[in-house]
Amino acid sequence: MTTHDWSIAGKTVLLTGATDGIGLALARELHERGARLLLHGRDEAKGRRLLADLDGDHAWYPADLVSLARVEALTETVMKNEPRLEVLICNAGVYRTELEYSTEGFELTWAVNHLAHFLLVNRLVYLLARSEPSRVIVTASMAHRFTDGIPLEQTVHPTSYDAGEAYARSKGSNIAFTLELARRLEGSGIACGCLHPGVISTKLLHAGFGPGGEPPRRGALRTLRPAADLDAAELHGRYFENDRPTEPAAYTRDPELQRGLWELSERLTGLA
Ligand SMILES: NC(=O)c1ccc[n+]([C@@H]2O[C@H](COP(=O)([O-])OP(=O)(O)OC[C@H]3O[C@@H](n4cnc5c(N)ncnc54)[C@H](OP(=O)(O)O)[C@@H]3O)[C@@H](O)[C@H]2O)c1
Repeated sequence: MTTHDWSIAGKTVLLTGATDGIGLALARELHERGARLLLHGRDEAKGRRLLADLDGDHAWYPADLVSLARVEALTETVMKNEPRLEVLICNAGVYRTELEYSTEGFELTWAVNHLAHFLLVNRLVYLLARSEPSRVIVTASMAHRFTDGIPLEQTVHPTSYDAGEAYARSKGSNIAFTLELARRLEGSGIACGCLHPGVISTKLLHAGFGPGGEPPRRGALRTLRPAADLDAAELHGRYFENDRPTEPAAYTRDPELQRGLWELSERLTGLA
């Protein structure tokens, strides 16, 4: 479906995890479509290479999402430097095979995939509102279906670790967060939605699920569609799988879980 009220050309887009996999392919697609890119990553050399490679009016914003302090610093720099932000794409992600902790002591997969992006979106929401119509795209995964719930305390401070379960909970959190965000942003001029980009050949897929997968460009195009081609009304409050609006697992749609996740995330990030 083509857009009637929205074009990505000339828009300022902050893309997390732009230095590898789907994000790297997406950066190239967005550049081709005429967006101005705020490229995020954690690896300075990769970021500088990408900036030189794209050769446009783009900017590099480094931050290791394992640290909430670094996320705070990133948002401060963006707000200081950037007068506009029309699109925020929360793409960065990890799959950790062993239990590890974020700087603040939370389970790392959940902290990077969900909590860092929760803070990023909430800190940048005023800039997005000032730039409306704007949108937030969250890269989730069909792997959220590999669990049937998010026991919050166990997820943040696990007493045992199952890597697949931790990843599934982090991706379920991406969806529950987006659905709650959509409710809170109703009528604000900021649309938001989330998606599964497909099974894509990247280091994350290979670390968590083995070999195979489609080329990264396929995942990039599935992310580009809600970011660039759908009308706000087609995007808002939806989860997309294989390019189609799809009902995510029941637990992600539970308002009590959505509210509990939001309030916990506010507390852990110091927003409340
Ligand atoms: N691949 C799939 O089949 C698949 C399926 C469903 C959903 N997804 C989702 O798609 C998104 C992109 O993943 P991918 O498959 O493209 O994986 P990838 O190739 O490993 O890329 C992940 C990106 O996130 C960045 N990143 C990871 N940890 C970070 C941290 N602590 N701080 C800052 N940046 C960090 C990476 O930076 P570096 O370049 O420094 O490593 C990289 O740019 C993820 O949200 C993932 O959950 C992927």
